[in-house]
Amino acid sequence: MTCPIPTPPAVPFLGHINTIDKDLPIRSLDLLARQYGEIYQLNVLVVPLRSCTTGDKKIFANSYALQNELSDEKRFLKKVSGGLNEVRNAAGDGLFTAHVPEEKNWYIAHRLLMPCFSASSVYGMTDDMMDIISQLILKWERFGPKQLIDPATDFTRLTLDAIALCAMSYRLNSFYRDDLHPFADAMVDFLIESGKRASRPYIVQSMMTSTNAKYEQDQRVLAQLVNDILDDHRANPPEKPDILSTMMNGRDKETGLGLSDESIKYNLLTFLIAGHETTSGKSTSDRNSRTMLMFREGMLTFTTYYLLKNPEAMRKLREEIDAKIGDRTPTVHDVNKLPYLLAVMRESMRLGPTAPARSVAPLEDTIIGGNYFVEKGTSIIINTYNAHRDPNVWGEDAETFRPERMLDGKFEALPPNAWQPFGYGMRGCIGRPFAWQEAQLALISIIQRFDLVMHDPTYELQLKQTLTIKPHNFYIHALPRKNRP
Ligand code: HEM
Repeated sequence: MTCPIPTPPAVPFLGHINTIDKDLPIRSLDLLARQYGEIYQLNVLVVPLRSCTTGDKKIFANSYALQNELSDEKRFLKKVSGGLNEVRNAAGDGLFTAHVPEEKNWYIAHRLLMPCFSASSVYGMTDDMMDIISQLILKWERFGPKQLIDPATDFTRLTLDAIALCAMSYRLNSFYRDDLHPFADAMVDFLIESGKRASRPYIVQSMMTSTNAKYEQDQRVLAQLVNDILDDHRANPPEKPDILSTMMNGRDKETGLGLSDESIKYNLLTFLIAGHETTSGKSTSDRNSRTMLMFREGMLTFTTYYLLKNPEAMRKLREEIDAKIGDRTPTVHDVNKLPYLLAVMRESMRLGPTAPARSVAPLEDTIIGGNYFVEKGTSIIINTYNAHRDPNVWGEDAETFRPERMLDGKFEALPPNAWQPFGYGMRGCIGRPFAWQEAQLALISIIQRFDLVMHDPTYELQLKQTLTIKPHNFYIHALPRKNRP
């Protein structure tokens, strides 16, 4: 005996398209989760989107129990649909956007590149990471205490430059420009338009000639940087082989095959994007408020926000850094050695999972949650944002930032799949060790040198979202620390 999946009232022909806040979908999804509980269903559009689509039914799973059940890869696999499917226009069958199991290039790239992102490989990238981190530190030191800092934009510079240098031996020099690299602008525009195309009827899309031309132009800008990086790499191979060297020369042990040129380009772009997202204002006059987000930049911005909102946590973290590292430059030996720092980052990623949802589909007709029938292939959105707040796992204070809940073995003792900011299983994040190490080194370096203060002490978290989420309108000042150890 199964139950129907609850669904909010819908508008004829348009389904639930107006049920979702277009600027901040996670707010609507959060409200719906609070109203309908662990599961609900939306028909996002019931007019044809592409030539013969008859609808876009999506089930939203909001509880820990469902997140855990849906992480069973024998029953469910990642589904690339909607905006992510449009990202394939540039990233093709690269790791993030590949349709698996159909697209075999994914397996080759996965086997070849996983070892490049192992914790021990990432240790070898420490010097290059610190090179870019020191550029941010120098910039903030030179700014002085009065300068208004938009941390999200500088964290974008940091994360984009770090992946380009560490993985491709290529310098983007974003800290030496007033604006962001043109690649970053094109990427933001491309991603926004990809998201919008996912919910536009085909006929409407085909008539939007200037939008389509801009979309193609953005793709050319993305391709140009990828080509430049490849040409540069071929002309000046780095002394120390990097991830791009493996992409170009590596052979898959299982098949003996390497990556085709096309596959190298798709994956290069994928790493530069690395879950890269979004912008605020889109007009040129609104340029200053225009920021973009990669997952990592979001992680650093969320962590900074939660630390500034919780001075006791900041005090404890600084105490730990002062005691264990003092004034010296952090090294690879400090990575994963500061328990309070790890707890702060884990707790920040719990409350602010920059990728707030992921999509899977059942391999066969099935029943989920013991009650709900789901047809093979139906999109199920795992709402990580709400599952990370499930009181059954996190208790009645689930909304409270409390790093102590991740300390002293409590993180390791969590029920399986309770903490999933990096996704899960074979389609889980390949870049996790990279992002984790980079964030630790950056946070240690920043806290060693600065007293951070919020520009507006009354600021309460506002979110900005397209595919990922981040704090919005969040500004800080970085005061050089007076009492450095
Ligand atoms: C996959 C989050 C950093 C590359 C994912 C997924 C999540 C995620 C949730 C799974 C997506 C899904 O199921 O649809 C994050 C977060 C990051 C981060 C929160 C930082 C805080 C990075 C970095 C890289 C990277 C630094 C590479 C340089 C990838 C790739 C995949 C992926 C290639 C697809 C893996 C596959 O399907 O084979 N990431 N990511 N990510 N991430 Fe990350």
